[in-house]
Formats: sequence, C-alpha cells, structure tokens
Amino acid sequence: MIKIENLCKTYKTIQALNDVNLQVNKGELFAFLGPNGAGKTTTIRILTGLTRLSSGRVMLNGFNVENPGIESRRQCGLVPQSINLDQELSVFENLNIHGRLFRMNKQKRIRKIQELLDYVEMGDRKKTLVKNLSGGMKRRLMIARALLHSPAILFLDEPTVGLDAGMRRKIWALIKKTQQHGITIFLTTHYIEEAEFLADRVAFLDRGNIVVVDSPGNLINSQGTWALDRLMEDDMETIYFNDRKEANNYIAIRKDSFTLRRVNLEDSFLALTGKKVK
Ligand SMILES: Nc1ncnc2c1ncn2[C@@H]1O[C@H](COP(=O)(O)OP(=O)(O)OP(=O)(O)O)[C@@H](O)[C@H]1O
Ligand SMILES: [Mg+2]
Repeated sequence: MIKIENLCKTYKTIQALNDVNLQVNKGELFAFLGPNGAGKTTTIRILTGLTRLSSGRVMLNGFNVENPGIESRRQCGLVPQSINLDQELSVFENLNIHGRLFRMNKQKRIRKIQELLDYVEMGDRKKTLVKNLSGGMKRRLMIARALLHSPAILFLDEPTVGLDAGMRRKIWALIKKTQQHGITIFLTTHYIEEAEFLADRVAFLDRGNIVVVDSPGNLINSQGTWALDRLMEDDMETIYFNDRKEANNYIAIRKDSFTLRRVNLEDSFLALTGKKVK
C-alpha cells in the first residue's frame, strides 16, 4: 500500500509538488495523469527513493521512503521514463546484473530471467544486444527487469511513450496481466486513453497539485454522455449533453460546424483544469 501525506517538493525556485495527499491500495492500478511538467516523474522518483522530498511523508508497505534499506528497495520495481538499459550488453546480461544487485542467488536468477522473458514474449532474445532491439522490446525488457526481484509495487513512468498503437496495446495487456498477479501498479501517463483503459483510479495532476482522484468511469460520467465540439474561428468550444437527441436538436437549429462524440476523460480533465493534457 502507498500512503502519501502532505508531500511537497521544491527544486530551487520551482514548486514541483504542492501538498500531495494520496493512498493507493494493495492490488490497485493507479494512474497519475498530467501534462508535461506536472510533477509525475518527480512523484515516482520520490516514491522509489531516487529523489528526496522537501516535506511530508511517504510510506510504501509500512516502509518510510526516507530511510531506504534493501528491504524497502525490494518492495519497488521501477520502469523509468527514459530507457536506461546497458545498450552494449545482451538482454540476459542486463537482467542478470539487476538480479545480482538484488542479491538473488544464481539458480533463482536464471529461472526468473527465463520466466520473465517468456512473460514479455522475448524468450528467444536472450543473447541479442540491447542496442539491436526495437523500442517496444526495450520497454518490455525494462518491465521484465523491474519485475525480476518480485516487487510488491510496480512503478511505470510513461510506459508507452513513443510507441505505435499496436505495441502500446501489447504493453497495456502486459500491465493488466501483472496486476492480475496481485502486484500494485502506479503509473504516470499523459495519454488520456492509457489512463482511461488501464486505471482503477486516476489522479489529475496540474502543476504539482492534485485536482481530483476518482475512477475514470465516474470522472467521465460527471461531464454528461455526449460532447458536441463546435468549430470556432480560432478555437473549439465543447458543449455537453446527457441525451443524444438533445444534442442533435441543438445542431439542427444552428449553421455552425459540429462534431458529435462520446464524452471521454479528456473532457473531464479540461473541465477541471481548464487545459488539455497533451
Ligand atoms: N532535477 C530537477 N531540477 C530542477 N527542476 C526540475 C528537476 N526535475 C524536474 N524539475 C521541474 O519540476 C517540474 C516537474 O517535472 P517532472 O519531470 O516531475 O514533470 P512530469 O510531469 O514528469 O513531465 P513530463 O510529462 O514532461 O515527463 C518541472 O517544472 C520541471 O522543470
Ligand atoms: Mg515525466
């Protein structure tokens, strides 16, 4: 379980996080959604002990992140935003080093590496040098590496950034499957549909402040069911309706150019923050 209380982080003059309070339950898949610079990576770095907090308290399964020891580090698996694999080493060697850092014995290491490579569908890539893998394979390898020491909580910082739609869906399936194995998942994303598809609950983060925390379903429903985008001279206006017929009646008596679509999480984010995520 993740418990964040009154968390603040300041970098010199920048307030990156401002009084963040949050609880993520065991087994939950929680998404932190926000635009560039919102404070998503800062939060993950603090939770995983890579960056020090300025004030507040963060507990991971009863361990305070400010006093990291091997036991508290074992609780977390991290897939960072940028690829930090050793490009000159093979897939197996990258995983093997990680297992040794976590003091896994050889027999267990070898067994788990094979198991996880099969899990991310890279069982035949053991000897391939990382520099020769595709972007999607590198991301999957980072997920395998984060899971190698059997963490209770998996942190994923923008797990599908820069990937095509097919690979993104593959990674989504992998993340869901990981949750089904009982692992708590905390991910950040600025892809609306990623949060909408994956998360049990989502927090909207805007310039270091949590704006709202709820399930994607509740957030979407709070806006109505149908969204009508009206094309303006230099912008777009969106009007919300609960009933499709109502929306069509609205269009019928006007000459403007409209697009009718279902409400999504972006509408909710826009309504609460006044800005788009991307
Ligand atoms: N090491 C640092 N030193 C100074 N400022 C930093 C540092 N790291 C982050 N910041 C600032 O803190 C704020 C939050 O950054 P952060 O990287 O957490 O955002 P993010 O939500 O992950 O953004 P992105 O979507 O671009 O990854 C930004 O204003 C950023 O410039
Ligand atoms: Mg980031």
